[in-house]
Order: sequence, then C-alpha cells, then structure tokens
Amino acid sequence: MGLQERLATIEQAFRRTFGDGQGLTIGRAPGRVNLIGEHTDYNDGFIFPMAIDFDIVMAARKRSDQMVKIHAVDLGRTVEFSLMTPLTPDAEEGWSNYPKGVLWAMQQEGARLPGLEMAFSGTIPLGSGLSSSAALEVATAIVVQKLTGFQSALPALARLCQRAENDFVGMRCGIMDQFISLMGERGHALFLDCRSLSYEQIPLQLGTYKILICQSGVKHSLVDSEYNSRREQCETGVRILAERYPAVRALRDVTVEMLNNCENRLSLVVYKRCLHVITENERVLKSIQALKAGDLVAFGELINQSHDSLRDFYEVSCEEVDLLVELAREVPGVLGARITGGGFGGCTVNLIRADAVRDFIGYVLSKYKEETGIEARVYLSTAAGGAELIQNGVNNN
Ligand code: GLA
Repeated sequence: MGLQERLATIEQAFRRTFGDGQGLTIGRAPGRVNLIGEHTDYNDGFIFPMAIDFDIVMAARKRSDQMVKIHAVDLGRTVEFSLMTPLTPDAEEGWSNYPKGVLWAMQQEGARLPGLEMAFSGTIPLGSGLSSSAALEVATAIVVQKLTGFQSALPALARLCQRAENDFVGMRCGIMDQFISLMGERGHALFLDCRSLSYEQIPLQLGTYKILICQSGVKHSLVDSEYNSRREQCETGVRILAERYPAVRALRDVTVEMLNNCENRLSLVVYKRCLHVITENERVLKSIQALKAGDLVAFGELINQSHDSLRDFYEVSCEEVDLLVELAREVPGVLGARITGGGFGGCTVNLIRADAVRDFIGYVLSKYKEETGIEARVYLSTAAGGAELIQNGVNNN
C-alpha cells in the first residue's frame, strides 16, 4: 500500500472512531535495523543503525477538553484517559503505553498538554525487533510537538522518547532506536557516539550488495528481563573495573587489556559481557573504516564476528536465529549475517549480493522451515529517511 492509500485508511478510521477527519496533523516515523554495534548504546559506546522503509503513521488533533483518545487502527483498539489525573501505565492495553509514555515524559518536562485524539497504523512487523515501539513513540512525539508547540531539539526529543520507555513502560533500552527513527537520512546509516551523541551520516554505498532483513518468527519471553539483566551485568563490570581504573565510567572506557588485568576479580559471566561490548565497539569503528574504503568483504566479516560474540559472550541469540545465520552464511554472495536488535529472537541482518537474494529465499527459508517448522520472512530495505510531518502525502518538514 502506498503512502496516499495508507493516509486515506487512517483518515477513514479516524472518522469512524472520532466522528470526522478534519484538521489532522500527520507524521510518520520509521523502524530501524542495526547494522553493527549491538548492546553498546547503554554502555556509552558506538552504534551503526539505519532507518528502514517500514514505519508508523500517526494522525492527531486537539480536543477542547482534557481527554486523550488513542486508536490503534491495526489492532482495532481504542484507549481513553484523562489528563486531569496523573498518567499511569495501562496493564491491559500494553501498546498504548508507548504513546501515553511520551505524553507523560512531556508532562515531566513541564508541558501542559491539551486533550487529544490520535489514530495510528504501521507497516513495521510487530514484535520483530525492528523497533515498532520506538517508531510509535517518535511518531507521537513529533505530532504532539507540532500540535502543542512543545519545543525540544531533535537529540533531546530522542532522549524524551527513551525516557518514556525507560521510566513509563519499564524497559531500560538505550538511545539507539529513538535516535535513528528521528535522525535517519535516506541513503545513509548513522554512526553515533552514544556518549556525546555526536554522529556522522555515512553514505551506504553498497554497489551490487543489499541489506536483507530476515525475520525469524520467534520472540522468546523474558526478553525485557534478560535485557535489563544484561545491563546490570555491564554495570557490575564497570563498578569492579573502576576500582582499579578510576577513570572508567562506562565499558566505553575499557580496553581488552584492562579487562584482562581485572579478569580474576570478575565472574565469568560479567567478563564475557564486558568482552563483547569492548570488542563490539572496536568492530563498529572498523566497520566505518571498511565502508569508507569500500571494503564490503571486511564489513561482512565484522558483521559475522558481531554475531559470534553476541551468541557466545553476550548470550542474547537463540537456536532459531543461530540457525538462520548459519544457513545464510552457506549462501554464496552473503558477506555477513548476524542477529540484530535486542536479541532472543527477532531478525537477522544480512549483507548480500543482489543476485543471491533468490538463492537466500530458496535455501535459507526452506531449510529453516524444515528444521523448525517456522516460516521466516525476508525484507529488503534501503536506508530510509527519519521521522517527518506529512500532509496529504507530501513531506511537510
Ligand atoms: C534494543 C534497545 C536498544 C539497544 C538494542 C541492542 O533494541 O532498544 O537501545 O540496546 O536493543 O543493541
């Protein structure tokens, strides 16, 4: 479905739910795939994601009272709450906590919000690890910002959305997903220093190669609790390393040599977690160099190493995803394959020669189905642009 059609569908749903579709402010925010730099963002490290061609479109307008009504078009659900009482998470309608959390975070920053009517719909496969939740937060943020005049510069708006997820939803995610959804640039992947938030848009010149996303169809439970426990293990590592090296504030400040000097003070688990983060930061830096030099083979090799480290040291992969990665690496023309995102299922990201995509689909998907009984899906995405306001299908920014 093209953008015009999607806008028409949302407008229609808006009319059905709220009586008419007049005076809408509309915005879209993309999902993302992280090319390399996994579980480094909350360690003050480096990441290299790109925005994808799948997004969430949000339409909204003000109300004259203090009620907020949010309609999830794809779920056919609506929630309502009043701004007169403090906002609290909704245990039943989990999806609503992302937009609600953004409103909450704006209030925390002193915004006096009006009542709102909102409806959204998306093309990002849900629960796939392609950041549909961050896209929903960011779409909410830019539309409500436009409607209410609440002002926040772009990096600060990413932080605000992250706070919504950390402190309202209760997932201690880093800055990656919100940042790339806001700041993505067409044709580029974003190299971000998560400590300073300084960034460089790197042209993704892949020649005859493509970025192929493969969805495992698996989402293991406990993702959030495992994620939060990885963060704690990193924090434990930092505490112990800082006893010997007082300048260490985050794993970003640690080298493999420093880590090895403290090995006997760290549990094996904490050692492995730290080793992943430290080497992953190095791999991001090397990837940027490789891309700038046009060396896709080296980039693919780093992608492979990233997966192996996430599997063996950070232990956030799972059997199904490991299988997808192994199968992918057997396909001639695949330069690199790895798990992407938080882990425990979700997607792999593959650097693949365009003319090998057909073989990938033929071989990997059928072998995977044979061994797991699950249908994996494949998406090809170019590097998309970041969040923007749209009116009648026209970019309004
Ligand atoms: C999730 C989080 C991100 C990041 C990744 C792992 O997607 O939302 O902040 O930590 O996991 O790299």
